[in-house]
Amino acid sequence: MTGARPVPETAEGRDKLLELRGVTTHYGPIRVLHDVDMTIYPGEMVCLLGGNASGKSTTLKTILGIVGVSAGEMYFGGERADTLTTAERIERGMAVVPENRRIFPKMTVRENLEMGSYLRSDRGAIREDLSYVLSLFPRLGERMGQLGGTMSGGEQQMLALGRALMSRPKLILMDEPSMGLAPLFVEKIFEIIKQVNERGVSVFVVEQNANIALSVADRGYVLQTGEVVLSGPAHELLHDEGMKRAYLGEV
Ligand SMILES: Nc1ncnc2c1ncn2[C@@H]1O[C@H](COP(=O)(O)OP(=O)(O)O)[C@@H](O)[C@H]1O
Ligand SMILES: [Mg+2]
Repeated sequence: MTGARPVPETAEGRDKLLELRGVTTHYGPIRVLHDVDMTIYPGEMVCLLGGNASGKSTTLKTILGIVGVSAGEMYFGGERADTLTTAERIERGMAVVPENRRIFPKMTVRENLEMGSYLRSDRGAIREDLSYVLSLFPRLGERMGQLGGTMSGGEQQMLALGRALMSRPKLILMDEPSMGLAPLFVEKIFEIIKQVNERGVSVFVVEQNANIALSVADRGYVLQTGEVVLSGPAHELLHDEGMKRAYLGEV
């Protein structure tokens, strides 16, 4: 035995896909996230739960670099990432399905999907990914020439996820995919998210609908006024008494 050597700072995060260490963020003078620690391992589906205004969207924006960190560090694929621009993070494998879909309404379905592969030059692989997306969402294939903005909410959610997949991401970040969708459709979209995840893409999904998110995710974190108050395997959170009272609609 030669004794344990200290792990170098940068190597520590190497087998983690994403790591937030003590992340704090502000909007001007107002602190939103406080000392947040979060980890996503390769291949995982992790959900972020919490009430309205708890800081869920801010967490997603911080991961993407739309909001800067005022303290703490973030690593993506073992690399220090809080100093990277949003474009650099996307180049390294992040993709976002923003709140309320945010597809390009004046572009066709095809053009929206092409925007997702815009940073790539591997034409053969892009074609493969397009047929994969159209196999997940045959509806999009039937509507390639239609303007995105004329599709239903559910179809726009499919398009937003399809567009994200067209970048062949390592990590998909989703902000409340269930919002404004009928329950049957919510189930359908989570089923597809799970299928995508089972093919090896890691997923970080922000949700107010804790029941559906915990029924498909591997692990979850719960935010309350910008702090992580609970975390663990999804099946444990589903049966946690505090969770039931606060977020799962049971007494
Ligand atoms: N651009 C912004 N400027 C100032 N405050 C903001 C901004 N965006 C969000 N906030 C505030 O930050 C807090 C967390 O918001 P958000 O992350 O959107 O919460 P959630 O997604 O959980 O509903 C809220 O109090 C919200 O009002
Ligand atoms: Mg939000």
